Amino acid sequence: MNSHLKLPTNQPPISPTEYKGIRCIIHHPVIDSTNEAAKRLLSTYAASGTLILADTQTAGKGRLGRSFVSDSTDSIYMSLIVVPKLPAEKLPELTILAAYAMSAAIDKLTGAATQIKWPNDILLSGRKIVGILTESVEVEEHIAPGSRAVIIGIGANINNESFPKSVGQKAGSIYMATGTKTDKDALLTLFFEIFFREYDKYVKHASLTSIVGSYNQKLLGNGSEIFLIPYGRTAAAADPYTISTDDLPTYTCLGINADGDLMVRDSQGQTMPVSSGEISVRFPDQPA
Ligand code: BTN
Repeated sequence: MNSHLKLPTNQPPISPTEYKGIRCIIHHPVIDSTNEAAKRLLSTYAASGTLILADTQTAGKGRLGRSFVSDSTDSIYMSLIVVPKLPAEKLPELTILAAYAMSAAIDKLTGAATQIKWPNDILLSGRKIVGILTESVEVEEHIAPGSRAVIIGIGANINNESFPKSVGQKAGSIYMATGTKTDKDALLTLFFEIFFREYDKYVKHASLTSIVGSYNQKLLGNGSEIFLIPYGRTAAAADPYTISTDDLPTYTCLGINADGDLMVRDSQGQTMPVSSGEISVRFPDQPA
C-alpha cells in the first residue's frame, strides 16, 4: 500500500480529475480485480469518490461468485467507492442508480437505446454490454467511524469488435451494436455527471424516486410476462441461461418502486415487490 494514500479524507491522494464527483483516480494497467483493489484500499483509506480504473483484470469478478472476462482494453473496468450516510439495507439500491446512470450516459453519448435488465445489467441489441457488481464493506472505526463503504464495480464493453466463444453469444459491445467507436473518457465524464447528480438526490431523500420513471422506461420486459428465478437456483446453475422455467408461474412486470424492488402482479391479480437480493428475472422468449 502506498503511504501517500494515508491522507486526511479531505485531500485527494492522487491528482484531482475532471470527472465530476471524483476526488481521486487510481489507475492500474493490470490488476486482479478493481473491486478487490478497492477493498484493500479501504483497509487503510476511505474517501467517497475514489475511483479505481484498470486497463485489464486478471481475476475479474461477476455476480454469484462467477468470473468476469476482463482482458480487453476496449472495455472499461472500474470500481467507484462511495461512503453514503444511509442504513446498510439501502445500499444495494446504488446498483440500480449506477445502472441507470450508465445506461443514460451511453444513450446520450451514442444515440443508442440501451435497456436495463433488472436490477443492473445493461443490454444493447439484445446483448449484455455492462455488468455491475456492488459490494458493501464496513469501514474500520479509525478511518470513517460507523460507516459502510459501497464499491460499485462496473465492467462495460465499449469498442470490442468480438468476444471469444467462451463468453458466449450473450455478450456485446457498443461498437458491435452501433458500428461506431466511442470515446471511453467522454463516456466516463458523462456517467459521473449523471451518477453524482442522481446520487446527491438519492442520499438526500433516501429514495430512488427521481429516477424511477426513467429507469422503468428502460426496463426490459416492463409490462410483459416474466419468470422470477430464486437466486439459489441461478447460483447453482453452471450456465444461468439454461435454467428451466417449466415449473414456474409467470408474473406481469410492473416496474421498480422507489426502493428499487421490482413490482410484479401474479395471476390472481395480487401485486407484490420482489427484492434483487433474492430473485432474478427471466423472459419467456428471451433467456437473457
Ligand atoms: C456481472 O455481470 O456479473 C457483474 C460484472 C462486474 C464486473 C466488474 S469489472 C470491474 C469490477 N471489478 C470486478 O472484479 N468486477 C467488477
